[in-house]
Amino acid sequence: VKYMKKMKPNILNILRISNAFIQAPMLGVTSPSMVAAVANAGCLGSLPVGGLSVDQTRQLIRDTKKMTNGAINVNTFSYDFPVVDQSMRDSAFQMTSGLNDLLLAKGFWDTQSTSASPIDAEERLQVVKKSTSYRDQLEVFIEERVPIVSFTFGCMTPNEIDLLHRHRVVVLGTATSVAEALFLKAQGVDVIVAQGYEAGGHKGSFMPLRGASATSAPGAKRVDLESPGVGLFSLLPQLCGAVNPRGAPAKEYTPIVAAGGVYSGRTAVAALTLGADAVQMGSCFINTVESLASVAHKRAVATAADVDTEYTNVFSGRSARGIRNAFTVSMAGTPLPYPVQNVLTAPMRQQAAASGDAGVGFMSIWAGQSSGRYGSSAAAGVNVRTESDSDSELDDAFANRSCADVLTAIINETNTLLSKQMGLF
Ligand SMILES: Cc1cc2nc3c(=O)[nH]c(=O)nc-3n(C[C@H](O)[C@H](O)[C@H](O)COP(=O)(O)O)c2cc1C
Repeated sequence: VKYMKKMKPNILNILRISNAFIQAPMLGVTSPSMVAAVANAGCLGSLPVGGLSVDQTRQLIRDTKKMTNGAINVNTFSYDFPVVDQSMRDSAFQMTSGLNDLLLAKGFWDTQSTSASPIDAEERLQVVKKSTSYRDQLEVFIEERVPIVSFTFGCMTPNEIDLLHRHRVVVLGTATSVAEALFLKAQGVDVIVAQGYEAGGHKGSFMPLRGASATSAPGAKRVDLESPGVGLFSLLPQLCGAVNPRGAPAKEYTPIVAAGGVYSGRTAVAALTLGADAVQMGSCFINTVESLASVAHKRAVATAADVDTEYTNVFSGRSARGIRNAFTVSMAGTPLPYPVQNVLTAPMRQQAAASGDAGVGFMSIWAGQSSGRYGSSAAAGVNVRTESDSDSELDDAFANRSCADVLTAIINETNTLLSKQMGLF
């Protein structure tokens, strides 16, 4: 990556890293030890705290800092809460009743412990009321001297970005379209994460498509028809060209990070070739020892084919890419806005995740379109799965692979490919 250092010093200096690789924040999967391992490898580790309480946020930052002196990125969700009025309450009761009926019909409770009980809408609405806004977390970021903050689901206000800047915090925002990227730049973010349609987990989209209404269109149950769906191959060159037009003064340059389907040297080089200054990778860290993903999640990712993921908003009310299962296929009705739907389905998701393979149909198995490509041979720098990869071999490899091993393989492959491109070999 020395080559990149010479050609594009900005992002490495801005993010205080020596390699242009970022571990994506993955709420529910990323642990403090994952972030620290990545930071200790000279890359940027991202700690997800979206929606977590102020106390949890502070504790996680402190836990991470105990394990590394490297720069870390703390990631949150910058959006405004929907108003929970009578009509939202009515919808929540209706949604919960449909949810409980579905779980009963699918025999969900039979697979759970006897203490499991139907979801209680009133109790859930109380939880919604106590949700933490990113605005409450800003003070913690500043107090704990976090060097880098990234956000998704929207954009902080220029005043909030200014406040972070005054405390020497570097600010990253997530865009899924050219218009969103230009908006982030105008608001004052330092680095833009271009998230392609391939990406696992929640889509960061925050601007409706031209002509689309702000509310859910009929038929938008599983694929969110109203937010951008641009693949990284198309998004990157257009976004880079618009944000950093040819001939613009160097000081106006905003570095771009590519996210979505990057999991190897080859995919990283492709993204860099298309204009990215760095890459952000999520799914390839799900099956590591530092990951908090359940064994069922890891197994599902290990065996996922290209067509096995889809965008769905039935779990959370926002479009997120995960592996298709019984719940994504059979849940009916228009989901409530984030985070209400997320809070309503939380007891089901948590119980499902705790009940191993029996719960796999009701877990949210967030993963990207390329997640299954990250097979057992990846640690050796070979990212193609072979016919002989049996499940047990995969499980074994996942249990043993560390984030550092994953990164080393990807960085080495990237360096080799870049050297080849330069004709050094
Ligand atoms: C399990 C999972 C959880 C995620 N959680 C977050 C999150 O908390 N915040 C965020 O900004 N992005 C989140 N993402 C999206 C990633 O930041 C990133 O865009 C994505 O992982 C890149 O695509 P890839 O999975 O193909 O590498 C998540 C992705 C996954 C797979």
